Amino acid sequence: MAAPTYRTATLSDVEGIAQCAAEAMTEDDLFGALWPRRKEYPDQFVSYFRRRARERILDHSVVNLIAEMPVEEDGKEVMKVVGMAQWQKFGRPSVETEWSVYKAAGSRLIGFQDWAYSWFQPKETASDPEAIASFIEDFTEMEHKFWVKDGNQHERWHLQLLAVHSIARRRGIGGRLVELGVERAKRDGCDASLEASPMGLPVYQSKGFEVLETYMMKVKGPDGQPIPSPILMWKNPDVKR
Ligand SMILES: CC(C)(COP(=O)(O)OP(=O)(O)OC[C@H]1O[C@@H](n2cnc3c(N)ncnc32)[C@H](O)[C@@H]1OP(=O)(O)O)[C@@H](O)C(=O)NCCC(=O)NCCS
Repeated sequence: MAAPTYRTATLSDVEGIAQCAAEAMTEDDLFGALWPRRKEYPDQFVSYFRRRARERILDHSVVNLIAEMPVEEDGKEVMKVVGMAQWQKFGRPSVETEWSVYKAAGSRLIGFQDWAYSWFQPKETASDPEAIASFIEDFTEMEHKFWVKDGNQHERWHLQLLAVHSIARRRGIGGRLVELGVERAKRDGCDASLEASPMGLPVYQSKGFEVLETYMMKVKGPDGQPIPSPILMWKNPDVKR
């Protein structure tokens, strides 16, 4: 397999990102709890990642990175998205996350488009609304417990989502997508942070992230027990604490 190339995603990458994320997250415990019928309705699962990718590409504060490589599909060589990372800047905007009229207008437009489509689309059946509501509570609690102090966000780049397609794992792609966020934190003189899945933990630790605490989510895993979410930070040595 050829070496991957890395770049910032544009709207034309939405489909590739959605396919890659849905494939990578199919066996993840958290997504399994939020989307218990994802294997019966795979299109709905991909559609969720499509919406999410579009929103994030049009979000000023997020840098969407992809890894792609040529692969053979249906007898043809195509460039395929095999890895994706969504890094969000909290606190002051960085050079890459300043407000742009193009993103603001695009974001309004897709909000309206999604609302209009929702009237005609069949009811979404693959997800569990109660588990999603519970996850939103967990997420809000984690955010306030670890990253908001006196109403201010901890100055940082935060990894919102990392996924590497199963055909391209253990080749350093996940690790490189993590490094690309840490490089931004170094450049901007701030920390980097994330909430890990058990599968992602070794990747982050190999890149210098430390576990601050393991938060037990209210969302339950396949064994009926709360899903653990290790909270990690890469502490920038240039930041005075
Ligand atoms: C976690 C994930 C992103 C790792 O991507 P990847 O491209 O395979 O990771 P890398 O090849 O960069 O791995 C870097 C290092 O992490 C460790 N590592 C990665 N996957 C591992 C695994 N399954 N078991 C043990 N160690 C692992 C190894 O130390 C590895 O280095 P090595 O291959 O030289 O031994 C990928 O497996 C994935 O998408 N999983 C499903 C979704 C997910 O869990 N995402 C993380 C959400 S927080």
